Amino acid sequence: MDTSSRKGIILAGGTGTRLHPSTIATSKQLMPVYDKPMIYYPLCVLMEAGIREILIITTPHDQAAFKTLLQDGSQWGLALTYAIQDAPRGIAEALIIAEEFLQGGPSVLVLGDNLFFGETFSKGLEAAMSRSDGASVFGYRVNDPQRYGVVEFDEGGKVLSIEEKPDTPKSNYAVTGLYFYDSHAPEYAKSIKPSDRQEVEITALNQIYLSKGALHVELLGGGTTWLDTGTHKSLFEAAQFVNVLQSRQGVRICCPEVLAYRKAWISRDELIVHARRLEKSGYGNYLMDVAGLL
Ligand code: TTP
Repeated sequence: MDTSSRKGIILAGGTGTRLHPSTIATSKQLMPVYDKPMIYYPLCVLMEAGIREILIITTPHDQAAFKTLLQDGSQWGLALTYAIQDAPRGIAEALIIAEEFLQGGPSVLVLGDNLFFGETFSKGLEAAMSRSDGASVFGYRVNDPQRYGVVEFDEGGKVLSIEEKPDTPKSNYAVTGLYFYDSHAPEYAKSIKPSDRQEVEITALNQIYLSKGALHVELLGGGTTWLDTGTHKSLFEAAQFVNVLQSRQGVRICCPEVLAYRKAWISRDELIVHARRLEKSGYGNYLMDVAGLL
């Protein structure tokens, strides 16, 4: 068994009730964030980390649409497989659903509605990728920590506690939706009792790692932006952010075709095929530009 290669999981189920009526007939993670479907952003986080074998977990009724969009991933040098979460029983359930796919190896789980950008973010990713034992999560300073899992540190940066949606948060650091785990995660996840809201809580899984002295927290500083897109306002703001960044810099972020090309997982000819297929859109034009055709 090859346990050295870390596999990726994108959790893209859920009900998206805060985005109703927009998400009645479609999955939140298929909604656009400015110029591309939301799931492209977490997918590119995994690609950026060099992960090519990825499991996409969706609701039963949305799976077909995700397959239409992402196919088997080979067009981008990836191997995508699909699994179903038949009810939103919690984020940590993703590790149980993924157990067979992981084949006893380490994993990285990312939520389908989380967006990350920034230079310093890539450094944090590298640090987490290189750690083979335990779990690594990312802490990000927010104004409203009570909405998230919250981490508390001592002066040396050692994690003291991690709490889910506390009324009185012990710090302003929220745990983002990106989690690196060693091979024990499915086994630990199975031991978690559902919470009062009937979910297998990701914070409970992280608490297990903490109790074993095996939870690392990478702090994402000012050079990183972390956005979630769960409400109409935050979705709109994320789209504005992407638009401002892209128009200002003249580059598009989180395009799987471009990342695959830069990593030499696809050839220039393959990039051009993608560009031609999308040529009526600005996105396709950008691919043409990257291929040197504009
Ligand atoms: P949430 O935003 O907490 O839940 P949701 O997407 O169902 O939205 P709402 O609160 O508006 O009803 O979920 C965060 C991410 O995790 C999102 O990408 C969906 C995913 N998720 C699942 O796929 N399954 C789950 O059981 C849970 C809790 C979340």
